Amino acid sequence: VFAHIVLAPEDPILGVTVAYNKDQSPVKLNLGVGAYRTEEGKPLVLNVVRKAEQLLVNDQSRVKEYLPITGLADFNKLSAKLIFGDDSPAIQENRVTTVQSLSGTGSLRVGGEFLGKHYHERTIYIPQPTWGNHPKIFTLAGLSVKSYRYYNPQTKGLDFEGMLEDLGAAPSGAIVLIHACAHNPTGVDPTVEQWEQIRTLMRSKGLLPFFDSAYQGFASGNLDSDAQPIRMFVADGGELLAAQSYAKNMGLYGERVGALSIVCRNADVASKVESQLKLVIRPMYSSPPLHGASIVATILKDRNMYDEWKVELKSMADRIISMRHQLFDALNSRGIPGDWSHIIKQIGMFTFTGLNPEQVAFMTKEFHIYMTSDGRISMAGLSSSTVPHLADAIHAAVTR
Ligand code: LMR
Repeated sequence: VFAHIVLAPEDPILGVTVAYNKDQSPVKLNLGVGAYRTEEGKPLVLNVVRKAEQLLVNDQSRVKEYLPITGLADFNKLSAKLIFGDDSPAIQENRVTTVQSLSGTGSLRVGGEFLGKHYHERTIYIPQPTWGNHPKIFTLAGLSVKSYRYYNPQTKGLDFEGMLEDLGAAPSGAIVLIHACAHNPTGVDPTVEQWEQIRTLMRSKGLLPFFDSAYQGFASGNLDSDAQPIRMFVADGGELLAAQSYAKNMGLYGERVGALSIVCRNADVASKVESQLKLVIRPMYSSPPLHGASIVATILKDRNMYDEWKVELKSMADRIISMRHQLFDALNSRGIPGDWSHIIKQIGMFTFTGLNPEQVAFMTKEFHIYMTSDGRISMAGLSSSTVPHLADAIHAAVTR
């Protein structure tokens, strides 16, 4: 009965790792998936995460009961505070409902399903380009997916005019997916002044913001400044959705820890929204897993551990920034034609190099360097010892 099934293509991002794993070359380099690596090219488990896990293991009173449908209550409260700020008016007024979800993807999907069922305008605008999973998540959630201009390949920067024009032309009430910081794949973010203009336009048209916050702390090394665009939209009293992931900023990739928050007009609406989110979640996965959320809650509620986390987070962000400078210098010292200053201007985990699919394929074939075909490289996968190899490969690709 399954004989008719055709072989599906690999995922454009996770498939890069599959191809990398098959390569036997000793110089192979995986700059595909956005996952942090140390200078030695190894995955990193934060010290503070190890500590939290030890505390959890030692606590004999802990049991393995099901969590509620909405997840771990402490985790939800602390996650909302982390993203909206300790003194957020929306939290104080009980206008926020937060549910624990399966990292960024799960939070976006739960939010998408909820909107598909209960929101009057089923069109979502996503930036062009965006993370490859976005269109799939929202299409499967029953939304109609359209895009707004975001990136200008000529300047390798923001197409701000195009963005305002497209959002201005969107139907009133449409949902707008916004990368909260460290836009994936481009590493290009609006300035605070530009955010303010975007906010004014969106609110005047009644567009509903749906923030994807996968990199809080990774863009600038500062948790508060990376959340600033979201907080600007909360401060005006309007509604929004925010999906949070702890994959990158706590290095909890495989634990699948995230949260979906919906900021509502008042506490009564928020509790009704939460009741409906439960109806979305229960038939999908019943309730979320316990372990990762317990790690996050342990760290966020202890002042010392929280401070320790911030130091470790900053050092990851700083290492990525230093990789940008090293790569930029290495390209310049090889006299590679073109302006490569976008490498140091873009922020967060990724650089959108401007390399085309043929150049990427060439670098993979000849240099065993793996990256997504759109020319995105994960700066977090690079180290001082691999920068020269990448610079040589880029040199060969653009001058051949
Ligand atoms: C990425 O863009 O590489 C990460 O967000 C990992 C993923 O799931 O795609």
